[in-house]
Parts: sequence; C-alpha cells; structure tokens
Amino acid sequence: MEEIVRRARASRASVTVASSPTSTPTAGSPARRPIRTTQSVFQATPQSHALWQVPTPSLILSPQRAVANYESIQRAFPYAHVCYTVKSNAHMSILEAISKLEHAWFEVASAGEITALAACGVRGERILYSNPVKQASHIQVAIDHGVRCFSFDSEAEIEKLAVHAERHPIEVYCRMTVPHAGAMWPLTHKFGVEPHRAVDLLKLARGRGLKPVGMAFHVGSQCIRPETWADALRTISPAWLAAREAGLALDLLDLGGGFAAPYVGPVPPPSAIANVVSPLLETLTPGARRIMLEPGRGVSATAGDMVLEVTGIAARPDGQTWLYLDGGYFSGLYEIPDGIRPAARPIIRESRPASMRTYRLAGPTCDSIDKLFEMRSPVEMKVGDRLLLKMTGAYVYGVSSPFNSFPLPQVLNAAEWMIDLDEFVGIC
Ligand SMILES: Cc1ncc(COP(=O)(O)O)c(C=O)c1O
Repeated sequence: MEEIVRRARASRASVTVASSPTSTPTAGSPARRPIRTTQSVFQATPQSHALWQVPTPSLILSPQRAVANYESIQRAFPYAHVCYTVKSNAHMSILEAISKLEHAWFEVASAGEITALAACGVRGERILYSNPVKQASHIQVAIDHGVRCFSFDSEAEIEKLAVHAERHPIEVYCRMTVPHAGAMWPLTHKFGVEPHRAVDLLKLARGRGLKPVGMAFHVGSQCIRPETWADALRTISPAWLAAREAGLALDLLDLGGGFAAPYVGPVPPPSAIANVVSPLLETLTPGARRIMLEPGRGVSATAGDMVLEVTGIAARPDGQTWLYLDGGYFSGLYEIPDGIRPAARPIIRESRPASMRTYRLAGPTCDSIDKLFEMRSPVEMKVGDRLLLKMTGAYVYGVSSPFNSFPLPQVLNAAEWMIDLDEFVGIC
C-alpha cells in the first residue's frame, strides 16, 4: 500500500487528462465541461495514477467533502440545525468527520445508526429519530442513548413511544404528507399524515403523556425545485396554525432532506432553497424556533466516486453493445433504474483516437435487473479499462449486496490514495 500511495503521489503532478474543472457545479455556475468530441485523441490516464492502483470494485470516499457539503448547507441556513441523515452513507469515516463539527446534528432511522454515532461520541440530544415507524427494541436503544425527539404518523407509534413517557420527557413531531413536484425519488406514500389528521394525532400524543413539539416533512429526494419546499410549508400551515390554536405549543419544524446532487448537470444550491423557505417561516409556521434540516444526498453524494473495471464486451441482437463491469446494480447502484444516474468517465491506459460510442452498462451478476444505463463514451472501450462513476457517495454504501457472491465494493479513503474527486469530471 505504501508503495502504491508513493507512486500515486508522484503521478499527481503529471496527470494531463482532459476535462477537469475544480468545483462541483450548482445552478448559476457552469456545468461540468462536456467531453470534447472534436478532440482527435482521448488521453490515457497514466499507469501510475492511483485510479489504476485501487482494487475494483471500490468506492472512494472523501469525508472532507462531506463536511464541506454539510457546512455549505449550514451556511445557507444559519438558523437551522443541520441533521446529517445517516442512512445516506453510514460509513464510519463520514460519521467521524461530521461528528467532529461542534454544531453537528444527525437524523437516524434505526438503533444501529444510533450505536454507530455513539461510537463517534455523538450524544442523544443531537439526534432526531425521524423514521416515523420504529421497532420497539430500537426505541429502547434510542432512549438508553439519550435520544428524546421522535417522529410519528400513527396511533400505533404513539402507543410505542408512550411506554417510555413516565420515565422520560419525550418530544414528538408529526410527519406530514406534502407535494413532491421536482423530486426524483418521492417519499410520500409510505409515510405521513394528511394535514386534517395532524391536530388530532398531536392531541392524542399529548393525552398519552408525550410532548408534541412540531411537524416534519420531506419533499422527496433529489428535489430540484426550491418552490416545492414552499408548497410543503403552505400545505402544513393550516394544521400548524390550528394546532397552536388548540393550545399545542409547537416550536419544532423539520424541513427534511431533498437537497439535490449535480449528477449530470447543475442543481439549485442550498442557498436557493433557503431563499424560498426563509421568508415564509414566520407567517406560515409562527413560533417555529427550532428549524431542523435532514440532508442526506446533499451531503454524501459528491463525497464518493466508484471505480469499476470492464470485464466483458458483447454486441447483442438488440443492436446494442453491452459493456460488462465488475460492479453494478447489486453494488449499491439501485437508484439508477429510477433515473438517479451518476456520470461515468472512462479510464484508459493508452491514448486512443476519439470515437463516440454508445454502450449499455451492465453489472457482473446473472440477474437481468443488473444493468445500469446507456453511456455515450468518447472513446472505444476495451476489456481491462476502468470506469469512474461520479457522485456515488449517497445510498450506495450500505445498499450493496454480495448477490451471486460477487464482492462488495471496497471502501477507500480519497486522501489516503491521493485521489481528488474533482478530477475526471467529464460527462458520459
Ligand atoms: C426521514 C428522512 N429524512 C431525511 C432523508 C434524507 O433525504 P435526502 O437524501 O433526499 O436528503 C430521508 C431519506 O430517505 C428520510 O427518510
């Protein structure tokens, strides 16, 4: 490993690959520079580059990038508690890095996430348990770790939490159903109550000894429409006002996650969402003093890239050329069929004539679901080439499975391998 890192370090100065803008694009800033199809040669990545040294499949994580993303959301919402959504990437390197921030909060969905945070020294009072439906044993673990703030959206959940109300002051906030226009991954049907039911549920919680403190919503993941947060606020506002009129002292408003990653083009930055949300809060949700955010993807997506190797190529009767990789759907890339697709970048050993090709990417297993997306490559691909899948830091680690006994992607640290995630950002 030492030798590999030494060689990678030595090679850093000599890399001369096309298309390497240095920052993550957001709306208003230029998008990633597309591959120039007019160039006559697509340049090789030097043999000594770390991308040739890393094992494949691998997921290269940059905890520093996750922290930078977290802080950019915090800067856009200086008045809010930014709760990193652990499920989006629960790798310890990311949790440790974010937990070092004095002001960091976290959102969890399970007991396992709480114990992982405890191992990083995070105390329960910095944790929101926002999974609206929890297992009783997980609630017990949360209570034991000092978690006191729980979401709910049903009578059954009130009963599970009420068991602890005599011994502990337990705050609850009601998960609401809201519109999700502009979200690639809506989260509406599984959870949430209609506004007209919220006040009764909050009152019921109070009657069972819990402290109803607020409301939560999630506009859906990868939401590229800031106005959707305004729609959500307008949707819950009548219930919020009615609850306060009914004597419920609501002061916690959880705006959820949904912050988008710039997978294949610019997306609104956190400040664009803040510009929409901030002016509405006082009017639509008066008394909301504790504003919570739960970004997952917006923190972790750009903090990871996946490196895969080309293991096979075949022209099929459907007229497509299929490119088989040593990682795929079961490596955690399960969002791709639903349209959340990373950019891909060929990594080749020797420079080749530029030649635009279309490949159908597929993973290594024998299952037909194990295919990814159509890639336009600026160069002919060969067995042994590698492919970099950009922005695979969110909802990949933790989802991968050893189906067909193929190995899980190895998680590597970008800084240790001298890999700069801003390098090789061309879109294919
Ligand atoms: C309750 C809750 N909060 C936050 C998130 C994070 O969402 P995102 O990754 O879109 O920011 C999720 C994602 O599923 C969630 O279920």
